[in-house]
Amino acid sequence: MDIYEKIMALAKRRGLLYPSYSIYGGEAGFYDYGPIGILLKNNIENKWRHIYLMREKFFEISTPVITPYKVLKASGHVDKFIDKIATCKKCGASFKIEELKDGKCPICGGEVEKSEINLMFETSIGAKKQEQAFLRPETAQGIFINFPFLHEFFRKKIPFGIAQIGKGFRNEVSPRQGVLRLREFSMAEAEIFFDPEHKEHPSFDSIKDKKMNLLPADGKEIEISIGEAVEKKIIGNEALAYYMAITNEFLLDVGVSREKIRFRQHSKDELAHYANECWDAEILSNRFGWVECVGIADRAAHDLEAHTKATGTDMRIIDKTKKIKKIKIKAKMDKIGKAFKEKAKKIKKALENIEVIKDKIIVEIDGEEIEIGKEFFEIEEEEDYRRYIPHVIEPSYGIDRILYSILEHNYKEIKKEGENYILLSLPPSIAPIKAGVFPLVARDGLPDIAREIEEQLRKNEIMALYDEKGSIGRRYARMDEIGTPFCITVDYQTKEDDSITIRFRDTTEQIRLNKKEVVSWIKEKI
Ligand code: GLY
Repeated sequence: MDIYEKIMALAKRRGLLYPSYSIYGGEAGFYDYGPIGILLKNNIENKWRHIYLMREKFFEISTPVITPYKVLKASGHVDKFIDKIATCKKCGASFKIEELKDGKCPICGGEVEKSEINLMFETSIGAKKQEQAFLRPETAQGIFINFPFLHEFFRKKIPFGIAQIGKGFRNEVSPRQGVLRLREFSMAEAEIFFDPEHKEHPSFDSIKDKKMNLLPADGKEIEISIGEAVEKKIIGNEALAYYMAITNEFLLDVGVSREKIRFRQHSKDELAHYANECWDAEILSNRFGWVECVGIADRAAHDLEAHTKATGTDMRIIDKTKKIKKIKIKAKMDKIGKAFKEKAKKIKKALENIEVIKDKIIVEIDGEEIEIGKEFFEIEEEEDYRRYIPHVIEPSYGIDRILYSILEHNYKEIKKEGENYILLSLPPSIAPIKAGVFPLVARDGLPDIAREIEEQLRKNEIMALYDEKGSIGRRYARMDEIGTPFCITVDYQTKEDDSITIRFRDTTEQIRLNKKEVVSWIKEKI
């Protein structure tokens, strides 16, 4: 068994992950989180929340999964969120183009037919008069379309950040990488709105000396400080670099190995349709190589401009600190009326909304492009506050991939009495169960004391699990396999002096402590 197979076997045995719909034969691209898995996932997400909400002072919102066609048409996903695929004419299997071997089917060597598919899952809204819709491919659009309300919420101050954790959906062509390529997956995304003239970050100094491994699109992998990477223009701006540093810190905190993280820049032809610049935090997997786990993108004004254009909602911010001279077009209605008749009003409106002047102007009215010559307008100059559409920096985390990487990097197998002994060295703060609580034997009043300790821990929001089944060695082993950092044992001495033992997962060392100190001791450790 390779590392992936070993981890998936452990995950199934210990309630971390189950392949979805398995009693019906399974469905590729879907995984269920079991009772222990969901605790781990929640802890990872809460660590993320701690950084982005508590520390960075963002707010979280929650928006629907089902997204009307018009939203994703405007954002570009309907036309551009596509994969180039190949389908084998012989065996019928489909692949991404890059998976082909010498242009042939990698399974049977057959000839293939090439095509393009949109990755979004389609659905519809309403029973009779149905409206086409999709399951969201990213949580981000829910944030962008609420921008006018969120801007009000932040009392029109900028920059500000909004986060969303939720499911995203992509109908992957051939999800053959198990839990790493899911069709339904958990994303943690933050959208930070910046003034495009000020893509500095107020806390940049606090991270600028931190070193990271960068793989620029046109260069070799280098270890470099964040400050130097911005100075040398390897990373486009401070804001983007800041969230790369935060990402590095988060990944280390949740237990990804330092030497297995790198940031790879997207080449121009690899960039998503909405991105100006993008760096992927990639994590090295023994089985899969470098895996994209977080994308940190400069989306510029792409999305807000797109939703402005589609809805007419003004998403511009008024900068009251700066006045600028503006050229304004004044429509000559007498002439326009005669020349364009029933379209005249719409043309007037379109002209007066244009700020950039050329000799002639092309306006789009009801889908038709109309050329308006110089004789139909005048140009006036006026002073007004500067207005701009904010730029967006987006760190977008694939939680499931990060979770798998954590399992892989913390999976340890040691030989114990001739047998393979497994332990997960998870950081205590994300471990699903913080403490196993055992009576040495299930009699003589020891279970009551142990149950009382479990109760005390849970009352204090510390996830503890009582277990009296099997030898103490077996009970330690079960806890080690799910990464429980501490095991508390109640023995006969406890009855005499109230002391219990705490055993450390990674060293098997033990200390004795008064049972009244257990809650505060564990709280401090996690
Ligand atoms: N929002 C980033 C992504 O869809 O990958």
